[in-house]
Amino acid sequence: MASTETPAPVQKLPVRLHSISYAATDALLFEFRALDGTDLAPAEPGAHIDVHLPNGLIRPYSLVSSSPYVIAVKREAAGRGGSAWLHDHARVGSLFEISAPRNAFPLDERAAATLLLAGGIGITPISAMYRRLTELGRQVELHYWSRSPAHALFLAEFEGAPGVTLHYGDAPSRGNLAAIVAAAAPETELYCCGPDRMLAEFAAATANRDPARLHTERFSAPELAPPTEGFTVTLARTGIDLAIEPGRTILETLIDAGIDITYSCEQGICGACETKVMDGSPLHRDSFRKPEEHERLGTVMVCCAGSKSARLVLEL
Ligand code: FES
Repeated sequence: MASTETPAPVQKLPVRLHSISYAATDALLFEFRALDGTDLAPAEPGAHIDVHLPNGLIRPYSLVSSSPYVIAVKREAAGRGGSAWLHDHARVGSLFEISAPRNAFPLDERAAATLLLAGGIGITPISAMYRRLTELGRQVELHYWSRSPAHALFLAEFEGAPGVTLHYGDAPSRGNLAAIVAAAAPETELYCCGPDRMLAEFAAATANRDPARLHTERFSAPELAPPTEGFTVTLARTGIDLAIEPGRTILETLIDAGIDITYSCEQGICGACETKVMDGSPLHRDSFRKPEEHERLGTVMVCCAGSKSARLVLEL
């Protein structure tokens, strides 16, 4: 995920799980509605919500539809339990808390031309973008890679849809991504959401393009080992000092100390835990911000950052 603005404080909304439906092999759609049945505030294409699960996990999911809120969840065998919990335990009618939508992957709806590239469950935000651009009559091309038709979400909608090409096969067959990117006019806005390997291919294929026209979102990150060096975090509002032990994250230490902090992915990909740095020099390890964005905004993702200085003073 990447954006240019500091995420707004996250409010929690009570919602009811209104329906669960089959989307594709290992993927389900979960639809949340307001408790009184009124419409939830419409979300922009590319936005995501954090879902607070009863097992204590908080997980970010991109929205397929803007209101009611629908998320697509793929069961991740190697995941940390969020998708498995939703697949195995979520029941229609039960109550959840979610965050208000936040958009770390905004769509330029006025672009002259847009190329959308999605891999696997990465189709979730990309599908919302395609629908919006089509609704507006904009020029849009969508390429969607999935293992097989049975693994493709929204197959009935996308088969034969204008500007859509579906690609099947395991990741190595995505070799045509570079050619698709090369064929796009220089003024095209490019959006890519998919697994790490696909984003690496996208980065290589777009190395010579205007970075301002490149937009990516990752839905998983390689497991990050906690920082290995200890340091001290000072909370500017209270002056409290917290020792961050080697092998622990700032976020874990803040939670243990009872500090109210917003977080979600715990992997440095969603931006929910972004916190202002008042003093000190963080060691950034997230993939949400580019280094120059951290520099400009003076923020840190406390779920994964270390510190180059012995002390970090945070606006908490
Ligand atoms: S909780 Fe998602 S970036 Fe820190």
